[in-house]
Amino acid sequence: MAKIISGKELSARLKAEMAAEVATFPARYGRVPHLAVILVGEDPGSVSYVTGKAKASAEVGIRNTTIRKPATITEQELLDIIAGLNADDGVDGILVQLPLPRHIDEDRVIAAIDERKDVDGFHPLNVAALWQKQSCTLPCTPKGIVKMLKTAGVEIAGKRAVVIGRSNIVGLPVSKLLLDENATVTMTHSRTRDLAEETRRAEILVVAIGRPKFVTADMVSEGAVVIDVGVNRDPETGKLCGDVDYAAVAEKASVITPVPGGVGPMTICCLMENTIECFLRRF
Ligand code: GUN
Repeated sequence: MAKIISGKELSARLKAEMAAEVATFPARYGRVPHLAVILVGEDPGSVSYVTGKAKASAEVGIRNTTIRKPATITEQELLDIIAGLNADDGVDGILVQLPLPRHIDEDRVIAAIDERKDVDGFHPLNVAALWQKQSCTLPCTPKGIVKMLKTAGVEIAGKRAVVIGRSNIVGLPVSKLLLDENATVTMTHSRTRDLAEETRRAEILVVAIGRPKFVTADMVSEGAVVIDVGVNRDPETGKLCGDVDYAAVAEKASVITPVPGGVGPMTICCLMENTIECFLRRF
């Protein structure tokens, strides 16, 4: 049976440490960090993420303003809100929950955020800095994944890491972070020929494809470290499940992350860390 990395427990520990640090900020800096979150529409997944971000902010002592707008908001109205938050000296971090409704150009919205307040690390300047190995705000999910691996004592250097999925939010940046940790990284996706052949070579397998229980036991090697980024509804039970067939894969893996309680809480934890970093950079 695999060792389970609990993102829930690790994030609770890290949030407690951050809370102790943030408690010293009013005396040192005159205020606490302030994160502004914009939610457009009422997609249940997005609502749940945004609620989680507000809850974590409260736990850490970060001020959270969540701005909720209907899905009918125009792109210009959204850009105007972002411009206001950019100009507001009392706001340290800005996050626009994705995805946005189709009539809004996501790239344009992300690029409109002041890159110094870009707590997601999605702004083109932060992405460029990441790929040039310059200091930048790291995207939360990939940052959380590397933290989990290190905390679990997983040696990354020299390992064959395989990433399934090539999204801007997870697949691409986690591949780069693993590369920076000296893994040999294979990036796979929906057009990969014989995916199972690639995944079976993985010593570290990161799955971010968004399909319930997509990775089955036959796709995983004995002793592999398996990181499941997926958050899906199991079509049979209606319960939350990952991209990995957890019960079967846990029999073969040496280390695995659960869903829920794995990568998700770590993403939010790293968002708190990024908000504190953005805040501290201003002093
Ligand atoms: N939607 C899914 N994941 C994320 C994330 O990490 N940040 C934002 N802004 N939206 C998301």
